[in-house]
Amino acid sequence: MQHAYVTTLCGGDAYLPGVEVLGRSLVASGTREPRLAMVTSDVSTEARARLRAQGWELVDVDSIENPLAETVQLYPRFAKTFTKLRAFGLANTSKIVLLDADTVVLRNIDDLFERPGFAAAPDFFLPDRFNSGVMVVEPSPELFARICEALSSVGSYDGGDQGFLNEFFPDWYARPVSYRLPAGYNMHHFVFQFLMGHASLKDRVLSEVRVLHFTLQKPWMGLTLSGGAEV
Ligand code: GLC
Ligand code: MN
Repeated sequence: MQHAYVTTLCGGDAYLPGVEVLGRSLVASGTREPRLAMVTSDVSTEARARLRAQGWELVDVDSIENPLAETVQLYPRFAKTFTKLRAFGLANTSKIVLLDADTVVLRNIDDLFERPGFAAAPDFFLPDRFNSGVMVVEPSPELFARICEALSSVGSYDGGDQGFLNEFFPDWYARPVSYRLPAGYNMHHFVFQFLMGHASLKDRVLSEVRVLHFTLQKPWMGLTLSGGAEV
């Protein structure tokens, strides 16, 4: 397998609705690329069956524990997110588009496979850092080994995988523009809501946004800034 869209379901089934919607949105985008969901052993048999029935290929992975102290993790749910890093060592793929389970694709994004890896879009909180919810990755055993080695020494400004990866790829912002995805490939939902509230911006925004990212509020959980349940 060369190309694939990849997402992660770990630490139980809490993000299953997100993966299901993401899958449907990818189908609706018209892509023909395969969809892989990395799943940990605590994902239920029912969830696995649902995802398989919806066309996801499942890849069993071991979870990766967050190496940072709980006190520096911005949200309790960041305890689980390092498992996403398994994608950097995914076998049988030359290039993947790694999408968080809380993203939805609004328009076809197959052009991302023409990008060089490692590519990502700016984060709205700190635009000179990238957001780790949508990434173009060229997996390799060597890259994954370097990432594993860095886990014990490299820090993380948010106590999650995003801060870690920004320190692992510190030159991202200064790299050629092909490594920086336009903001529309990873649009935070609250920025989207703000822009859509302005009649003069609406059409422009809708034509540019390709991936909507529910970074803070997960629509299938309560509407709190911690994302509802503490996961
Ligand atoms: C942010 C990112 C998400 C990442 C998390 C932990 O919420 O959007 O992709 O997993 O930080 O660093
Ligand atoms: Mn996310």
